[in-house]
Amino acid sequence: MDITFRRLAPSHPEPLIHFLTGESWPFHGVSEVDLDTVRRWIAEGRFESEENRSFWIFADEDEHPVGLVRLMDLTDGTPLFDLRIRAGHRGLGIGRAAVTWLTRYLFEEFPHMHRIEGNTRQDNRPMRHVFQHCGYAKEAHYRDAWPSQDGTFHDAVGYAILRRDWLSGRVTLPRWDDEHVDRTSTG
Ligand SMILES: CC(C)(COP(=O)(O)OP(=O)(O)OC[C@H]1O[C@@H](n2cnc3c(N)ncnc32)[C@H](O)[C@@H]1OP(=O)(O)O)[C@@H](O)C(=O)NCCC(=O)NCCS
Repeated sequence: MDITFRRLAPSHPEPLIHFLTGESWPFHGVSEVDLDTVRRWIAEGRFESEENRSFWIFADEDEHPVGLVRLMDLTDGTPLFDLRIRAGHRGLGIGRAAVTWLTRYLFEEFPHMHRIEGNTRQDNRPMRHVFQHCGYAKEAHYRDAWPSQDGTFHDAVGYAILRRDWLSGRVTLPRWDDEHVDRTSTG
């Protein structure tokens, strides 16, 4: 499959409105996006601004985008990203290709950046597979940190890739065994 990426044109909001309102996004804070919300997000600069850049994902000859990459916190030192693939195009390797692409894009475009982060809901297995496949290490697990619109809470997990790991092709893991607690102590 030929996968290409094209910078979003904020002056043409219709494709974005169509893409975001056209289906549900169950693993996002707002799962049903309406027209007013997209317009507000555009006005706030969520997709294109000094801090944020967004890219359409195209597959083969399809004239409609199959996905959207949003890069955030670009002035912050450690960027975050959001990724959405249309339901009919999931499970085909597009998510993996997109994260591989955005990782290279960020490290090449911003030479001072030394890490990239991404978060997702614990039960978002496809996204977690994508993180692992693309060399991201799990760094955080937040219990009951992801509120759903139905009032329940899910755990959230955080992944990141380091520039030095990206360059070497190795994945270094956090040191989880650095707490020296005497569990027999009663205080
Ligand atoms: C998460 C998402 C971006 C992944 O994109 P994708 O194109 O479907 O991903 P890929 O096809 O490249 O890879 C999916 C991986 O998940 C695995 N997978 C797919 N469905 C799965 C499931 N139900 N349970 C476990 N693993 C699953 C695939 O086998 C593959 O793993 P592999 O690389 O080890 O073979 C896409 O599914 C999506 O847009 N989902 C809705 C929005 C979303 O959740 N975005 C992430 C917000 S943080």
